[in-house]
Amino acid sequence: MRNLLAGIRQKHGQIRGLVHGAGVLADRLIVDKSIDQFAMVYGTKVDGLHSLLSATAEDELRFIALFSSTTGRFGRIGQVDYAVANEVLNKLAQAEMRKRPGCRVVSINWGPWDGGMVTPSLKKVFAGEGIGLIGLAAGGDFLVREIAATGSPVEVVAIAGAAGELSAISPISRSQVLPEAFALNLTVNDYPFLRSHVLDGKAVLPMAVIVEWLAHGALHGNPGLRFHGFNDLRICKGVVFEQGSPCTSVSWQARPRKGIPSIWCPLN
Ligand SMILES: NC(=O)c1ccc[n+]([C@@H]2O[C@H](COP(=O)([O-])OP(=O)(O)OC[C@H]3O[C@@H](n4cnc5c(N)ncnc54)[C@H](OP(=O)(O)O)[C@@H]3O)[C@@H](O)[C@H]2O)c1
Repeated sequence: MRNLLAGIRQKHGQIRGLVHGAGVLADRLIVDKSIDQFAMVYGTKVDGLHSLLSATAEDELRFIALFSSTTGRFGRIGQVDYAVANEVLNKLAQAEMRKRPGCRVVSINWGPWDGGMVTPSLKKVFAGEGIGLIGLAAGGDFLVREIAATGSPVEVVAIAGAAGELSAISPISRSQVLPEAFALNLTVNDYPFLRSHVLDGKAVLPMAVIVEWLAHGALHGNPGLRFHGFNDLRICKGVVFEQGSPCTSVSWQARPRKGIPSIWCPLN
């Protein structure tokens, strides 16, 4: 790899970007999988990336784009090795982002493309699940946009709908309906700590608890991510327990923004 890259630098100048797209499949149930098959699927992605990163450690890279897969995020029967490899790519991307300030690092968890390793039989499986195929041009445009999107999340999920329209699951666009992370039915009796937080004679949900539940909701909606904190947290209207109506339903909805989970908390 070092020799290869040295030749490329000599011929084309400094290396400024890295796209890692190598990958192979060996789909089988875990019981039928051999160590060699696992090593081939895992090694192609992970060892390949380690080798590239180490050979470009001294290059001032402006971007690193990794081809990960929705299998790493959601799993898929027969693809445990592939899922592990892709999730390791996601986390190596996070680590690399911290090591290289000024370098846009993105790991795109692609849904199926209309080409490459997606065979006709796999296409049928995806069609049955209502998952569309990412067109080559649309996928290429998406990749370029993501590389250019400084300050955006490191881990992005890109998946096509049944009609082939491509959307990024992270970040979610404002117009999308937010999924409910969890719902609570609050009563002073069930949550006695509320009796200790009384303003103007009425029990009020403490902000510290709201923060804890918001963080919990964010992680619910984003498995595998870590909660780092809030930006611009404001409580515009407190959750107040009016006398005579002790019950308030609260549902928490998670929306990741710029890598940091944020929450909408509508009160029913
Ligand atoms: N197609 C999809 O729907 C889809 C979805 C999600 C993620 N991805 C990811 O996107 C990437 C590209 O997929 P694809 O569909 O284009 O697959 P593909 O057509 O099968 O191409 C795979 C590429 O990986 C290279 N490769 C395989 N083993 C290698 C190794 N040990 N060292 C270096 N290169 C190696 C192959 O090179 P040779 O041809 O020289 O062997 C080939 O260029 C993969 O990482 C895959 O996991 C694809």
